[in-house]
Amino acid sequence: MKQMQIYAFDMNCVSHINHGMWTHPRDTSLLYTDLDYWVDFARTAERGKLDGIFLADIVGVYDIFEGSPAAVIRAGAQIPVNDPLMPISAMAYATKHLGFGVTVNTTYEPPYLLARRLSTLDHLTKGRIGWNIVTGYLDSAARAMGFDTLPEHDARYDAAEEYLEILYKLWEGSWDDDAVRADRTQAIFADPSKVRAVKHDGRYYKMEGVHLSQPSLQRTPLLFQAGASARGQDFAARHAECVFIATPTPQAAKPTVEALKRTAEAIGRGADALRVLGLVTVVVGRTEREAQDKLEDYRRHASVEASLAHYSASTGVDFSKYGLDDPIEQKSTNANQSALAAITKEAPKPVTLREIIDQMVLGSRMKPIVGSAEQVADRLAAWISDGGLDGFNLARTVAPESLRDFVDLVVPVLQERGLFKADYAEGPLRQKLFGGSGRLPFSHPAAAFRH
Ligand SMILES: Cc1cc2nc3c(=O)[nH]c(=O)nc-3n(C[C@H](O)[C@H](O)[C@H](O)COP(=O)(O)O)c2cc1C
Repeated sequence: MKQMQIYAFDMNCVSHINHGMWTHPRDTSLLYTDLDYWVDFARTAERGKLDGIFLADIVGVYDIFEGSPAAVIRAGAQIPVNDPLMPISAMAYATKHLGFGVTVNTTYEPPYLLARRLSTLDHLTKGRIGWNIVTGYLDSAARAMGFDTLPEHDARYDAAEEYLEILYKLWEGSWDDDAVRADRTQAIFADPSKVRAVKHDGRYYKMEGVHLSQPSLQRTPLLFQAGASARGQDFAARHAECVFIATPTPQAAKPTVEALKRTAEAIGRGADALRVLGLVTVVVGRTEREAQDKLEDYRRHASVEASLAHYSASTGVDFSKYGLDDPIEQKSTNANQSALAAITKEAPKPVTLREIIDQMVLGSRMKPIVGSAEQVADRLAAWISDGGLDGFNLARTVAPESLRDFVDLVVPVLQERGLFKADYAEGPLRQKLFGGSGRLPFSHPAAAFRH
C-alpha cells in the first residue's frame, strides 16, 4: 500500500475543531499567542516525520447560530483568531523539513500583496511553504471588509481563478531564473531585461506590476485547496496539488476522491498530480482501554453549543431554530455547500438535530478514531484503501498531548508497516511530496505563464 501523507491540523486560536477541549486541565491552547507554543508544536510534528502543519484560518465570525456570535465568543471557537502566517517563520527556523500549509482567503486582499507574502515565506522556509486557497463563506467577513454581502458562491471561485492567474504570472513569469546576478564587481544585482511587469485586465481584477520578490525555491507555493462543492472540485482539480476534504467515513470520501482524480486526469494533469487528504481525529492509548478512558475524560470537556454554532456557520443553517427531532431541510445556501450536502443530499435519510448532536462526541462532528496504536493504524489504513485518500489532516483534541501521543504511539506502527515514511526526502516541500525539481510541473496551468 502507498505511504500516507500526514499533517498536523491547527489554527492560530484557542478552540479549533474539537470545541471545548481547551478547558481540559492538561491542554495548553491558551498559550497560542506565545511563539514557544508554536515552536514546540512544530518540533513535535517534525520529530514524528509529519509532512507538515496545516493551518486553517477564517476571516469573520460565526454568527448564524441564534443570529449572534455570542456562542463562539463564549467558547473561544475560532474567535479570537490570529494571523496564521506570523508563527511560520519561527516554526521554520526550529525545523528543517516540516512543510507548512497555510490558509489565506483570496476574496479580501489584492493578489499583488499576497504574492509577495507567500514568496517571502517560501524564501524564509527554504521552499517549505504551501498555500491553502479558500474563497470565504461568511457574510460576517464580507460586512467586516466593507462589502454589502458575500459574493455569490460560484462567482467567488470565478474570481479566484483570475486571482490565481495573476499570482501565476507574478510567481512564474515576472523574474527569469537567471535574472538575479548579484555581481559585486560590476555592481549589477539583477538584469532588468530579465525582469518584467506582468499585466492583467480581467473581469474581477486589473493590475500591472513587477513581482516584488525574486524567485524563491518553489516559485509558486505548494497549492492546497479545501472546498468540495461541484464548482469547488472543478477548481481544485485544475489548480490544487493537495485537496483537503472532510467526510464522516472513507466510503463517503471515495466519490469525491475519484471525481477529483478523474478531472485532473481528463485535463492532462494526471491523477497522481493531485493528493487528497481527509480530516480525522485520533484518540490513542497504549492499550484500547487506556484510549477509551482518555476519550471519556476528554468528552467531559466537549462543547456541543460551540460545535453547533460552528456548524451553523459552515452550512449557513441556524440549528438553534430546529427541534431535536426535526429533519434538517435540504436547501442551497451561499455558505459551504459541501458541508450542507453532507447532511442533506448525500445522507441516506434526512438527518435530525439529535443525530447531529449525537455525532458531536468531542465538540465537532468528527467521530474520533479511538484505540491502541495498532487499532488506529488499522483504521487509518482502511481510510486509505476504502476512501482512496492519500493522507490525513490530524485535528487536535487536548494539545499538545494529542499530537505527542500520535507521534510517539501511532507513527512507529505506521512506519513498521511501511505505511509512513521512515525519514524525510530532501528538497523543497513539493519535491518531497512529488519528486521533480520543486517547481510546478509543465502539466500545471501555472506553467503557461512562464516566460
Ligand atoms: C475540509 C474543509 C476545510 C476548510 N477550511 C477552511 C478554512 O480554513 N478557512 C476558510 O475560510 N474556509 C475553509 N473552508 C471553506 C472552503 O474553502 C470554501 O469556501 C467553502 O467550503 C465553500 O465552498 P464549497 O461549497 O465548494 O465547499 C474549508 C472547507 C472544507 C470542505
